[in-house]
Amino acid sequence: MRAHEAGALHGNDAAPTWLPYPSDVNTLIDGLWSRTTRRTVDGAVEVGGVDVRRIAEEVGTPAFVLDEDDFRRRARRFRDAFAEAFRPHAGADVYYAGKAFLCGAVARWVEEDGLGLDVCTGGELAVALRAQFPPERIALHGNNKSVAEIRRALEAGVGRIVVDSLDEVDLVDAVAAELGVRAAVMLRVTTGVEAHTHEFIATAHEDQKFGLSLTGGIAFEAVRRVLDAAQLDLVGLHSHIGSQIFDTGGFEVAARRVLDLVAQVRDELGHTITHLDLGGGFGVMYNTQHTPAEPEALASGIAGIVEKQCHDLELEVPHLAFEPGRAIAGPSTQTLYTVGTVKDVRLGGPHHRVYVSVDGGMSDNVRTALYDADYSCLLSGRVSAEPPEVVRVVGKHCESGDIVVKDEYLPADVRRGDLISVPVTGAYCYSLASNYNHVPRPPVVAVKDGEIRTLLRRETEEDLLGLDVG
Ligand code: LLP
Repeated sequence: MRAHEAGALHGNDAAPTWLPYPSDVNTLIDGLWSRTTRRTVDGAVEVGGVDVRRIAEEVGTPAFVLDEDDFRRRARRFRDAFAEAFRPHAGADVYYAGKAFLCGAVARWVEEDGLGLDVCTGGELAVALRAQFPPERIALHGNNKSVAEIRRALEAGVGRIVVDSLDEVDLVDAVAAELGVRAAVMLRVTTGVEAHTHEFIATAHEDQKFGLSLTGGIAFEAVRRVLDAAQLDLVGLHSHIGSQIFDTGGFEVAARRVLDLVAQVRDELGHTITHLDLGGGFGVMYNTQHTPAEPEALASGIAGIVEKQCHDLELEVPHLAFEPGRAIAGPSTQTLYTVGTVKDVRLGGPHHRVYVSVDGGMSDNVRTALYDADYSCLLSGRVSAEPPEVVRVVGKHCESGDIVVKDEYLPADVRRGDLISVPVTGAYCYSLASNYNHVPRPPVVAVKDGEIRTLLRRETEEDLLGLDVG
């Protein structure tokens, strides 16, 4: 069992070794904040031209504050980086992985900026369709798609369904037959890669639920079945090795194994596979320990890997696709909280720890509790001349594991009423949010050119009580 964070017996004087003592605790650390974030002349943080104190006043806290410019530039940068890297070949498309964060406005930005959209449930598909996202640019994922989800995707005319199991080959074929349509499918291949990330977000090792294994010829058998199926068109193969990955080594192994299968299909079935989707998973900087590669470097690195392997196998480089979610959405957003209780807890001897409670917690960011994620934070409503001290930022939930930021330096005078910002919360925070303890979900507001626009409104008690029909 993992030792409980709240029970660790090191004190305030024992910051983790990776956490540098700040020369100025008010500094916005490079790479952690969305591109329009800065300090105003009177010291508050401003993003999208809007002072966070104004955001707190107008929409309240907690609130997800999304820097629209940052999100869209990042999306376009990934689109261009991969298109450029694969320009000498059949090209590459970028699908934004909507599971990271999706709402109507985001779907429309992604559409306008020329990306595709990866959805993995009927709910995500519904958001995309309501936003009038072009269905041919949608990919439907999921390891356990329902008949209703498959039917809806086919009726809408999605560009591709990524089939995850042998029985789903038959299921999609049957639903397509019932509707009298053809279904364009990709096959998700499990490559056996052990991605170096948290075990819950690694997806290509053998002992997990996703995909068709190369081992035992399952993936090859799936290709054969798709080629034989009456209503299915094989678009290509898909591989996603996991999330929050920093080095291209995992992609190298995955690409080689998938391309081996492409060659096997050519040699044994006489069929040319023209498309390859290598998924997403590109890591972001949550704190100073992380050093993500720039999209251009990632794209050219992966292009080099794919080119070499295709050359060795005497294959044409296929048309590539990638599905970044976190790397587009994550850095665009900060969560704004208001400080409540500040408690200096004695741990025995000289040891103590300062607990700074905020008005949200694991209901709006469960990643710390779920994946041991190490977030960072900053006093954002003012600057302070007090010396830095290590604190733990915790939420308001009835659970001691309700930790937002495990360790961070804040000024020693942090107090009730202060605003705190946690950066890089744009991916898998709102989308994993819950109503634990009947806490309503925060709003997501976009900021741009001095304007605040609510994308998702704050949940209300009425919303919660409205579900209770018993
Ligand atoms: N494509 C597929 C097939 C995926 O399963 C995923 C993520 C992505 C793309 C996007 O991966 P990204 O670029 O965002 O890393 N809740 C976890 C992450 C789960 C990711 C699931 N699949 C977290 O908060 O870290």
